[in-house]
Amino acid sequence: MNQKEAPLVAALYAHCAQSYAHLHVPAHRQGEAIFTEWQGSKEILQLDLTELPGLDDLHHPQGAIARAQALAAALFGAGQTFFLVNGSTVGIAALILALCGPGEEILLPRNAHRAVLGGLIFSGAKPVFLEPVVIEEFGMAAGLTPRGVEEALKQSPQARALLVLHPTYYGVTGDLARLVELAHGVNKPVLADEAHGVHFAFHAVLPPPALQCGADATVQSMHKMGGSLTQSSLLHLNGRRVDAQKTAQALRLLQSSSPSYLLLASLDGARRQLATEGREMLDRAVGLAREVRQALSCLPGIAVLGEEHLGQPGVCRQDPTRLVVSVRRLGLTGYQVAHILARDYRVQVEMADYYNLVVVIGIGTTRRDCDLLIHGLREVVCRHAGGQPLMACPQPPPLPVGRLTPREAWLAPSRALPLPECAGHISAEWVNVSPPGIPLLYPGEEIGPEMVEYLQWIRNLSLPVQGPEDPGLASLRVVVW
Ligand SMILES: Cc1ncc(COP(=O)(O)O)c(C=O)c1O
Repeated sequence: MNQKEAPLVAALYAHCAQSYAHLHVPAHRQGEAIFTEWQGSKEILQLDLTELPGLDDLHHPQGAIARAQALAAALFGAGQTFFLVNGSTVGIAALILALCGPGEEILLPRNAHRAVLGGLIFSGAKPVFLEPVVIEEFGMAAGLTPRGVEEALKQSPQARALLVLHPTYYGVTGDLARLVELAHGVNKPVLADEAHGVHFAFHAVLPPPALQCGADATVQSMHKMGGSLTQSSLLHLNGRRVDAQKTAQALRLLQSSSPSYLLLASLDGARRQLATEGREMLDRAVGLAREVRQALSCLPGIAVLGEEHLGQPGVCRQDPTRLVVSVRRLGLTGYQVAHILARDYRVQVEMADYYNLVVVIGIGTTRRDCDLLIHGLREVVCRHAGGQPLMACPQPPPLPVGRLTPREAWLAPSRALPLPECAGHISAEWVNVSPPGIPLLYPGEEIGPEMVEYLQWIRNLSLPVQGPEDPGLASLRVVVW
């Protein structure tokens, strides 16, 4: 296949060249009726079309979309590729729905992205959580150990699949090839959440891509590291362990019946760009990241996750274009440093947690971006060097016991209860805090007294909390029996 083609991009421009009378939705009619601020963007807006003759149909592709997906499959080495318009979130949910029925078990890391929650609730599956390794110095959850996975496969012989993060949000991978070997040994499919790894196939210093490690399915956020528009992702299948028809059906159920052609075409164009220029673009990003890593590692009070922190089970490889920068020895939280960088130095980082910043140096990052980051962090260090290191987080309580499946808890009536009164109740909510990014509660899990105490501590420190209706944690929603 010719990777220089971009059939869907070409079909959209060919359609526009016909100067059709447009008597159909969307109502802005190729930008004619778009609101004032966007009137200068008609060149792109003319491509915001719908399923017209010649433009194919995402849910039953036979033309330009089918060809664009086939080109993506060929490039990534997949048996079949699906374009996604609701991010990797919908791909992960669709895979779980395609594989699991009510009460059926699925093995997954506790630090899995919340996207799994939708899949668990839609399908009624029962999650069996595996604890990831934590890199203590960075207070950061990493991958699963082969031993842990082997044990879990023995304990849950009926499990329908193993889901693995490849890589984590922090860019770390475990030994996926080994985990695949273990799961395939007992004929279980392996699903990879490769949301942050679409670029892995295009540079030798990056970790191996999930398909190359033998995963049966992988979901990649092309929009994160591959250069397409936000919300556009890819789902690849390989082999027969995951049913392609069921996956397609699940996607038809979960995705819009009016998928955005801007998102779809951006997947096609970004695939072509990765195929033809990806190696060069990533070479530049890797070089810039290396320079930034060196500059930041020299700063007193700053530590950057590097090769020296790898090399244990569950912590094997790292994406060198993603820098995990610990600021704890400055006596500041990652949240505080991210705020100072944005306010005083006009630098926005990808993510901050209690101890760390996560910095992404991607295919579009400029030298100026990197210089501003280095300058800003240097100044922060000058202003705060010699301070008391940050107070360490207490160990989170052990994983709670699941009393209901997430779906049962979702469907059950619930009410908000003041946090101090929640002990002994079943959570109706998902609650996550970083560090270490391992959700404290899933819907259906029992809230123990240690959990209430830990949540109180988080509340007192006003740490950002994801998930619950009341992120201030004055109350939690619990299941009403
Ligand atoms: C590890 C991981 N998986 C899945 C997702 C969901 O991806 P998307 O934003 O493409 O829906 C994210 C989003 O940040 C993520 O970090």
